[in-house]
Amino acid sequence: MSDSNTVAAAKTSIEVDKIRKDFPVLSQKIKGKPLIYLDNAATTQKVKRVIDRVHQFDSEEYATVRRGAYRLSERATAAYEDVRKKVASFLGTPDPKEIVFTSGTTQSINLVAYSFGKRFVNPGDEIIISTIEHHANTVPWQVLCEERGAKLQVIPCNDDGELILEEYERLLNDKTRLVAVNHVSNALGTINPVKEIIRKAHDAGARVLIDGAQSTPHMKLDVRDLDCDFYAFSGHKMYAPSGVGGLYGKMELWDVLGPYVTGGDMIRQVTLEKTTYANPPARFEAGTPPISQVIGLGEAIDYLNEIGLDRIFEYEKSLLEHGTRLLQEIEGVRLIGTAKHKAAILSFVLDEAHPHDVGTMLDQDGIACRGGHHCAQPTMIRFGVPATTRASMSFYNKHEELDELAESVRKIIQFFK
Ligand SMILES: Cc1ncc(COP(=O)(O)O)c(C=O)c1O
Repeated sequence: MSDSNTVAAAKTSIEVDKIRKDFPVLSQKIKGKPLIYLDNAATTQKVKRVIDRVHQFDSEEYATVRRGAYRLSERATAAYEDVRKKVASFLGTPDPKEIVFTSGTTQSINLVAYSFGKRFVNPGDEIIISTIEHHANTVPWQVLCEERGAKLQVIPCNDDGELILEEYERLLNDKTRLVAVNHVSNALGTINPVKEIIRKAHDAGARVLIDGAQSTPHMKLDVRDLDCDFYAFSGHKMYAPSGVGGLYGKMELWDVLGPYVTGGDMIRQVTLEKTTYANPPARFEAGTPPISQVIGLGEAIDYLNEIGLDRIFEYEKSLLEHGTRLLQEIEGVRLIGTAKHKAAILSFVLDEAHPHDVGTMLDQDGIACRGGHHCAQPTMIRFGVPATTRASMSFYNKHEELDELAESVRKIIQFFK
């Protein structure tokens, strides 16, 4: 197939008009104009069948899980554990016990920083992150290093926003305990070569956590093939309800780690003198979990699987290529993040206008784009900008919406001239 044929095939690989009907929020108007939702890296919109499933569960099936001996609770527990199986197979592990439900990526990373840190990180040890991480994958490691007398090392990136792997290799040594990097950068869109990063860390005897907040909704994953030790994700970025997410971990690690949060449901036995802990994953799920949200997550996974992650990736790539071309044609627009391997995220700055003003003016045209540092201030510092405007796409976005974005950006540049 020729290049143009390949692009055309990718463009039509998703029946976007049909798909958009699955998302009730998308049919509304903002300021009299059709809503163009381009803040999917922050959070994604909800699928009708997820909304319906949660409603049905809450209306007819809701009960606590893992505790009640009555029928309703048994059924709710079965449904809850069924979602654990779905998440496991979605991420690529045959063992559902390797999946811990959390409130999202932030909590997942904090869990590893606390539990892994307590067990394995000692004074003089080192943790490696990168310069293009979300604060959720930066601050917990800073806190851990401060508390344990360890040192935080940082992989730099080049001007395209790609990690410099030679520098990474130089940082790895026998003191490195853990490498924590994102699969996809939320501020730049860079897809990191995580398989290589993991292999190199393992060669040096270090463990690896991958922050998958921006990858899980957009590409097919296989944690067993990647061989990562931990993989964190958020439900609300993958068309599921907010308040739920998860953490994959290798069983050999879960087995030896202590709990992060303690209380009900994570125990084997409690006396006033001593508590023994439950086996994983319950050991890491203290308290009543976000039951209905977990059920919604399962439905969102079914939906994504039915569309197919490979198709989603190809279609979103065609959006990225289209949007990149359009923005590159506009004088006065500078793209921040031009990695060769990118997810469908366009971060940019205008010579004349601050990203906050750009965001406000785009809103006048019904376009929802994020303006800010995207919880990635070290990335902004690296690129010498206080903030960017970010258009982050989903398979429910249309190529025509990017035409509208480009048109609106042109108007803003004219206005500020
Ligand atoms: C790369 C990355 N990591 C972590 C997070 C934090 O995710 P959450 O707020 O769902 O915990 C985000 C959210 O934007 C992100 O983009």
